[in-house]
Amino acid sequence: MNTEIITAINNQIQAEIYSSNLYLSMSSWANARGYKGMSHWLKQQALEEHTHAMKFIAFLEDRNSQPEILQIDKPDAEWSGIKEVFEKVLAHEQKVTKLINNIYDLALEHKDHASTSFLQWFIDEQVEEEATASEILDEISLAGEKGAGIYMIDKELGQRIQASTTTGNEA
Ligand SMILES: [Fe+2]
Ligand SMILES: [Fe+2]
Repeated sequence: MNTEIITAINNQIQAEIYSSNLYLSMSSWANARGYKGMSHWLKQQALEEHTHAMKFIAFLEDRNSQPEILQIDKPDAEWSGIKEVFEKVLAHEQKVTKLINNIYDLALEHKDHASTSFLQWFIDEQVEEEATASEILDEISLAGEKGAGIYMIDKELGQRIQASTTTGNEA
């Protein structure tokens, strides 16, 4: 594998673990302020981000490259309100989309077809991630941060099904 692509994927593993930690931090913030459903949703999102990291790790291993686990920055722990939390979720997902697109560009440039094929899943996934985050943000904006509306949104997000945790090596 091209070393530039390997470096980019190692950086992506770091970014996915950071995403997971950021969402865990947000989950704890939400839980402490009574948003139990959103806390649950964010925790599931953290698990999902962890599986993304595992997929990248498995991909490097499948291609005989040893992944490097890099230092993870401490995520923020304070937000002005639940709306800001989801604004930051959306902004973060948009940033991750750019990172994935950059790796895809690199893979195209190096005619690394296995990587472009593998990254396709993440490109589709990011469309969903951004859509979900912006949908939740819209709901919060409509409902406002106080009252029955936000209570209903919190209840709804509390219904999110337990994310399946995988090693990424299965399929
Ligand atoms: Fe991710
Ligand atoms: Fe994500």
